[in-house]
Amino acid sequence: MTTTSAIWFLIFLTVGFHHVRYNAITLEQPYRTAFHFQPPQNWMNDPNGLMYYNGVYHLFYQHNPFGPLFAVQMYWGHSVSHDLINWTPLEHAFAPTQPFDINGCISGSTTILPGNKPVILYTGIDSQNRQVQNVAVPKDPSDPYLREWVRYTGNPVINVPEGIQPDEFRDPTTAWLADDGKWRVTIGGQKDKAGIAILFRSEDFVNWTRHEEPLYEVTGSGMWECLDFFPVHVDGTNGVDTSVTNPAVKHVLKMGVYDYARDYYLIGDYNPVKEKYVSQDELTLDSLRYDYGKYYASKSFYDPVRRRRILMAWVNESDSDADAIAKGWSGLQSFPRSVWLDQNQKQLVQWPIEEIEMLHENEVSLRNENLEDGSLHEILGITPLQVDVQISFKLTNLEEAEILDPSRLDPQLICSEMDASKKGIFGPFGLLAFASHDLTEQTAIFFRVFQHNGRYIVLMCSDQSRSSTRKGLDKTTYGAFVDIDPQRDEISLRALIDHSIVESFGGGGKTCIIARVYPTLATRDEAHLFAFNNGTKSVLITELSAWSVKKARINIDETIGCADA
Ligand SMILES: *[C@@H]1O[C@H](CO)[C@@H](O)[C@H](O)[C@H]1NC(C)=O
Ligand SMILES: *[C@@H]1O[C@H](CO)[C@@H](O)[C@H](O)[C@H]1NC(C)=O
Ligand SMILES: *[C@@H]1O[C@H](CO)[C@@H](O)[C@H](O)[C@H]1NC(C)=O
Repeated sequence: MTTTSAIWFLIFLTVGFHHVRYNAITLEQPYRTAFHFQPPQNWMNDPNGLMYYNGVYHLFYQHNPFGPLFAVQMYWGHSVSHDLINWTPLEHAFAPTQPFDINGCISGSTTILPGNKPVILYTGIDSQNRQVQNVAVPKDPSDPYLREWVRYTGNPVINVPEGIQPDEFRDPTTAWLADDGKWRVTIGGQKDKAGIAILFRSEDFVNWTRHEEPLYEVTGSGMWECLDFFPVHVDGTNGVDTSVTNPAVKHVLKMGVYDYARDYYLIGDYNPVKEKYVSQDELTLDSLRYDYGKYYASKSFYDPVRRRRILMAWVNESDSDADAIAKGWSGLQSFPRSVWLDQNQKQLVQWPIEEIEMLHENEVSLRNENLEDGSLHEILGITPLQVDVQISFKLTNLEEAEILDPSRLDPQLICSEMDASKKGIFGPFGLLAFASHDLTEQTAIFFRVFQHNGRYIVLMCSDQSRSSTRKGLDKTTYGAFVDIDPQRDEISLRALIDHSIVESFGGGGKTCIIARVYPTLATRDEAHLFAFNNGTKSVLITELSAWSVKKARINIDETIGCADA
């Protein structure tokens, strides 16, 4: 189709149909992604109600159907998939139309009740701007896509509890069933600056009673939202259903800490009889996070097909509102990750779901290549804007590593002060994504190794400071330590690179960092991908594999999909 006829076709669509779910701004879209979920158009934030039901995966999401900026009156967008890779858009599941959600249908979860009956619990903002909890069920459970949802006439099923502000009570978790036959659900809030996970119980899913004690609370942490609470096996990578409690599992409590827009998690033990959660560690600003980059409002679900727990999260933009208006959209979802408890039981591990292999093509690989000080190795034969790359490094003579200044143990600070342009002894070494030929633009994902307290410490950074020649972008550099021993373990990095996102997994998924970038020079025919080392000591690439990643069919309306080519 020629450009002129494409323009006419789009004008026709825009004028001719009232609710075209299609992004009319297709002509110049360098930052739309090929395999990260995004809606057909407009604003998206939190993933909601992830589930598997009768052969189909469902992803609902917070959506403003009227524009690319956040709005209070949220809708529930809805897409379905057979493989978690290709997604078909459906009509919204909920619009704010009822007295109990007229000012917004905000986040919530699905639970599958016995007899394979899905039910949604979500927060509505009611006519008096109170956050209340509502229930909805599929209109026709035999519809393979569960297109229509019926809101219970007795909503809300949970009102704002005493002592909680009406706008600080939201985002119910997937419910879990204990041996006493009662469902539990926990909902985030705050009380006197303490973040709290308020607990409710019910026998029938509509009559909910508050348990006097919260499931958990942390003084001074501020408002908690988008809680997630689920068991993980103490031994093995398989996931478990949300209702499982036995000595073979530990429980993860994740809280979206509103004041910092960060998802923190705790690992601990849950006892449904005492109704107590005991965490292994305290929650602080240095606590564990799923991801140390742009990543918030995550939600997990149990996938019974492959017996795994899958995690997705909202990935915010790093450009401006004016850019969002020009693009016609805002917000991505992270690529679905399997999540499990590390063998050491101290942290979680995450890894892209194996279905990504459906999209792989043009594998290139390399073994045992030494990278001297200042060397660049271009990874050729792949499409640098759409790539899945894995690389492992081996280091020797570690006793020559720099000593880490004990007064500066903040990894993000070290990464921003010692960005990729600063030479060290071991590091920086890693990948340069979205690199222009002269490296004016580059997003460096790299490691440094230090000595600290008689052992070796591995730092992982994602440096956005040179990611784009554009001004007015959030180019924060991110960093976190990777809990591996470089004397024993190779240092590995996997990166999913997709037009305006780099999703990085260090140490086999022990440390994850997502960055949003908007290159202007490193574009379709001008982008390069390099492995690099700029430390004075050489490092050995033991293994490198990279694949071009094909474009998935994500929310392309079947009837007009050809216009997207
Ligand atoms: C709701 O549940 C509580 C606690 O189980 C019970 O005391 C109450 O009678 C129930 N109310 C209704 C209307 O079923
Ligand atoms: C989203 O990104 C914008 C632009 O960088 C920033 O101003 C805003 O605070 C971010 N919001 C959240 C919740 O991360
Ligand atoms: C390597 O380090 C030198 C010295 O700090 C710096 O000038 C150069 O730009 C660095 N190279 C890269 C690829 O960042």
